[in-house]
Amino acid sequence: MAKKILVTGGTGYIGSHTVVELQASGYDVVVVDNLSNSSIDVLDNIEKISGIKPQFENFDLADSAKTSDFFARNAGIEAIIHFAAYKAVGESVGVPLNYYRNNLVSLMNLLDCQRKFNVPNIVFSSSCTVYGQPEVLPVTEATPRKDAESPYGNTKRVSEDILNDSIAAYPEIKGIALRYFNPIGAHPTALIGELPLGVPQNLVPFITQTAAGLRDELKVFGNDYDTIDGSAVRDYINVVDLAKAHVIAIERLLEGKNKKNYEIFNLGTGTGLSVLEVVTGFERATGVKLNYKIVDRRAGDVEKIWADTTFANEELGWTAEKGLDETLLSAWNWEKKVRGIK
Ligand code: NAD
Ligand code: WQD
Repeated sequence: MAKKILVTGGTGYIGSHTVVELQASGYDVVVVDNLSNSSIDVLDNIEKISGIKPQFENFDLADSAKTSDFFARNAGIEAIIHFAAYKAVGESVGVPLNYYRNNLVSLMNLLDCQRKFNVPNIVFSSSCTVYGQPEVLPVTEATPRKDAESPYGNTKRVSEDILNDSIAAYPEIKGIALRYFNPIGAHPTALIGELPLGVPQNLVPFITQTAAGLRDELKVFGNDYDTIDGSAVRDYINVVDLAKAHVIAIERLLEGKNKKNYEIFNLGTGTGLSVLEVVTGFERATGVKLNYKIVDRRAGDVEKIWADTTFANEELGWTAEKGLDETLLSAWNWEKKVRGIK
């Protein structure tokens, strides 16, 4: 019988791509999402890609009674992939309690239920934000974490601590934290992708919305960094590549291939690209000219960061495969689909 996996936040950006990859690998996927940052239509689009509509429940994972009731009614879940969280860095500064409550209480409720209902495995969405501006590049998993720049970033740091301490105390739970660098792009079918509410904060959605005419111009935040062209450098990872790493992490836990009860992996390409390189890449990949101007640095931004992916490559046998142009083209095709542009 197919192994049952709970994907929290499974109608969201990274979650939806991961549901598709899990289904393609033969898993029986159950999605829980309260639709606070996603749409129910995503389930139909997942079905268009995979031929399977995942089982779905809409509730808030920060509600412990509802979360417990869900597990009581859904026996046989073998692993959880926990994507559900609020993720807007800027917003988190104004409403920190919303972020701490949502992101930390959800995780703690799930860990409680893992113990109570014998669900042994969890894969957690962490972030390269836990490294801040590292002293040495590229960053390995052993690079020291820095104090977070935002309440959102701190929820990721504290969530990692909660996982570490809980797994140390309760050996029946095993976990993997995946530290994503900058996920971008969309599914090659253009049926699922990133749907930011309001003005996008992240680079690639802002680029595609500018190209689509929703924004007048892209503001490039800073050109006086110590980088190849003065703009800030990040490690942009294709969302489908990222989704596939989750399937491998699940297999690792289910097959007992993990070397420790709690493991951490960086998920990136291993290559740093500047903002201006992404802009040029977008123009090259799509043939669309982008209106942009250089403005001041954005508060809280790090200058440069990219991943050392050796540990993920060697231990997981996973490598990011998709190139920048293919990825940016997928983001543009998704934007065009959403806006009805031919
Ligand atoms: P997303 O907002 O698209 O998806 C998160 C989903 O979780 C949404 O569908 C939302 O409705 C749901 N959700 C939020 N709180 C919930 C709750 N209490 N109960 C039930 N559902 C809830 O975000 P994403 O980009 O897919 O990110 C997924 C995870 O990856 C998050 O934990 C995020 O912090 C982490 N992450 C994202 C990035 C990125 O740049 N996108 C980078 C690093 C880490
Ligand atoms: C990328 C680069 C901007 C928008 C954020 C979170 C991080 C993680 C990933 C979740 C930066 C520049 C952006 C724009 C620009 N998320 N930029 N003009 O800041 O690396 O990381 O998302 O964990 O925690 O902080 O990503 O896409 O916002 O920015 O010039 O309109 O693009 O300054 O150099 P960031 P981003």
